[in-house]
Amino acid sequence: MNITLKNKDRNRLDEMLARITDDSAHMLGYPATKTLDFSVLYPFLEVLINNIGDPFALAGCFRLNTHDIECEVVKWFSKILHANEKDVWGYVTSGGTEGNMYGLYLARELFPNGMVYYSEDTHYSVTKILRMVNARSIMIKSRSDGEIDYDDLAATIAIHRDVPPVIFANIGTTMKGAIDNLDSIKTILKDKAVTRYYIHADAALSGMILPFTDNPQPFDFADEIDSISISGHKFPGCPMPCGVVLAKRDLVNRVARSVEYIGTNDTTVLGSRNGVTPLFLWYAIHALGENGFRDMVQRCFTVVDYTIEKFAAKNIQAWRHKNSVTVVFPRINEPILQKWQIAVQGDNAHLIAMPHITKERVDEFIKELTA
Ligand SMILES: Cc1ncc(COP(=O)(O)O)c(C=O)c1O
Repeated sequence: MNITLKNKDRNRLDEMLARITDDSAHMLGYPATKTLDFSVLYPFLEVLINNIGDPFALAGCFRLNTHDIECEVVKWFSKILHANEKDVWGYVTSGGTEGNMYGLYLARELFPNGMVYYSEDTHYSVTKILRMVNARSIMIKSRSDGEIDYDDLAATIAIHRDVPPVIFANIGTTMKGAIDNLDSIKTILKDKAVTRYYIHADAALSGMILPFTDNPQPFDFADEIDSISISGHKFPGCPMPCGVVLAKRDLVNRVARSVEYIGTNDTTVLGSRNGVTPLFLWYAIHALGENGFRDMVQRCFTVVDYTIEKFAAKNIQAWRHKNSVTVVFPRINEPILQKWQIAVQGDNAHLIAMPHITKERVDEFIKELTA
C-alpha cells in the first residue's frame, strides 16, 4: 500500500536526516561508525523479516527469517574467537548489552548461588542486568588505568570461597579501553583452589579488534572463557545496533526450551529479533574478509597514534592501552568536547579512533580544543 506524507511531515524527516548527517561528521567520542556501503541490502527492507527463535534449530513454522545467514555469522565468529564450532552456540543480538545479559543469565542458571565479580570500570548497564537476573555480585576496585584491581579481586574471592565465582571480565572498558588480564584472574582462582567458576568476556568493542592484531591479549575461547558478547554496530560499524553472543553449548542446552507455537527452541533473550542486522554483519564479513578487517584496524591504530602525538605537541598528556583505539586525555574545554561529542567521566575525556575518523578531523578537533 502506498502511503504519503504531508509536506510539513516530509520536511521534518528531511531536517532530521540533515541534522544527523552533520552530527555524524563531528562525532569523535563514541564507539559507533558507518563507513561501509550497505546499499545492496536495502531491498531487504521491502520484506518482513523476523529472526524469532534459535537460528540453529531445524526450520520452525515461521520461515520469514535470515537464520541461515545468522548461523554463518556465528560460525565465522566461532572461528576468529578460537572456539570449536561443535562446542559453541550463539546468535546475533540487539547489541553488547543483550549479550552481557545472556552471559550472566547462563552463569546464574549454572551457579544460582554464585557471586559475580566485576570492576568499577565495567559498563554501567551491568549493575542493572545483575538486578534483572537476580545475581549476587560484588564490585571490585579498578586500577587507575581501568583494569580490575587484582589484589582486591583475590582478597574478595578469598572471603567468599564457599560460592562459585562468576568473573565478568572487561575486554576493553568503555572509558579507557582497559583489558582485564585473564591469565592473572585464572592464577588467582588457582591460588585460591577454586575449580568451579564461570568467565564472561565483555568484548563490546575490542572483540572485533583483537582478532585482527598481531599480539592480542588473552580474551577468547582459547583462554577458557564460557561466554562472550561483542557489539556489531561499533566495529566494523553498521547502520543499526546489533551484536553477537557466543557461549558454550552445554550451558545453553540447560536453558533451551522447545516452544510449539513457533515450532523451534527458545534459546535467545528476546522473542522477535531483527533479521536485517545479521545481513549487515554477513555482508561486512564477506566484503572485507579477514584482511580487510586487519587493514581497517591498522588504519585506526595509525590515527590513534597520530592523535597522541598531536596532543603531546600541545603538551597535553594523552594515552592508550595496547591494541586499543581509545585515546584518554584530560577533560578540558567543555564546549568543544560537547561539539565533537566527546565522552567524559570524572577528570577524563576520550576520543575513539573509529574508522570514520581521519587525521584531518583530529587536527581540526585539537586545534579547536587548544585554541
Ligand atoms: C565495555 C562495554 N560493554 C557493553 C557496552 C554496551 O554495548 P551496546 O551499546 O552495544 O549495548 C558498551 C557500550 O559502549 C561497552 O563499552
